[in-house]
Amino acid sequence: MDRGYQLALPVSVPTLAPPSFPVPNLVEPLVGRDDDDSLLRQVLADHRLVTIIGAGGVGKTSLATRVASSLDQSTTHWIALALLTSNDELIRIIAAATRSEVSVQAAETSAESLARAMRNFSGLLVLDNAEHLIDLVRTFVASVLAHAPHTRFLITSQVPLRVFGEQIYPLLPLATPNLDASSAEVGRKCRSAVLLQGGANGDTV
Ligand SMILES: Nc1ncnc2c1ncn2[C@@H]1O[C@H](COP(=O)(O)OP(=O)(O)O)[C@@H](O)[C@H]1O
Ligand SMILES: [Mg+2]
Repeated sequence: MDRGYQLALPVSVPTLAPPSFPVPNLVEPLVGRDDDDSLLRQVLADHRLVTIIGAGGVGKTSLATRVASSLDQSTTHWIALALLTSNDELIRIIAAATRSEVSVQAAETSAESLARAMRNFSGLLVLDNAEHLIDLVRTFVASVLAHAPHTRFLITSQVPLRVFGEQIYPLLPLATPNLDASSAEVGRKCRSAVLLQGGANGDTV
């Protein structure tokens, strides 16, 4: 078959010096997020896709940083999405983080081909600030869940992905304790999140 002109050479990812994608250091200690930290770690232990959602500035990235810092750093990869603008960039950075070999054609980088290339990858990908690429991230994550069984995700976003099986963790602003209340009451009211189960049935757990 005449394949016509090849407009771009396949690009092989990664290159000789594998980049590393470490969890960033927390700039300052987190206040009032012990319950969220512990609950999120429990949920992550049992589920492949957990999304922390909440308004900008509420502390999603900070909490994800703290949770990710407590996990095995050799299998935890932090991918900052804020500056990415295209599917190509998303695919390339994740291919590099997971050291997956994908052949990237200039015009049609495929989430599914990367997901298939990740079939032997084992680890947690933290995708931070997904909201502005939410459709691309949804397509990619759904594909990975289907094709790469040892990959897990912790995502921060202002909106959920709405992928089947997603565990949505709404992060609320920190409560202001009533100083007249008992310490037990303060603790109960400051517990800042309930966990929702995404996917088809939308049950609350
Ligand atoms: N629990 C917290 N304790 C102390 N500082 C916090 C806490 N949560 C967030 N911050 C600070 O608030 C700012 C916004 O937090 P960030 O995690 O970036 O929010 P988001 O990711 O939801 O936009 C950052 O400067 C961060 O250090
Ligand atoms: Mg953030």
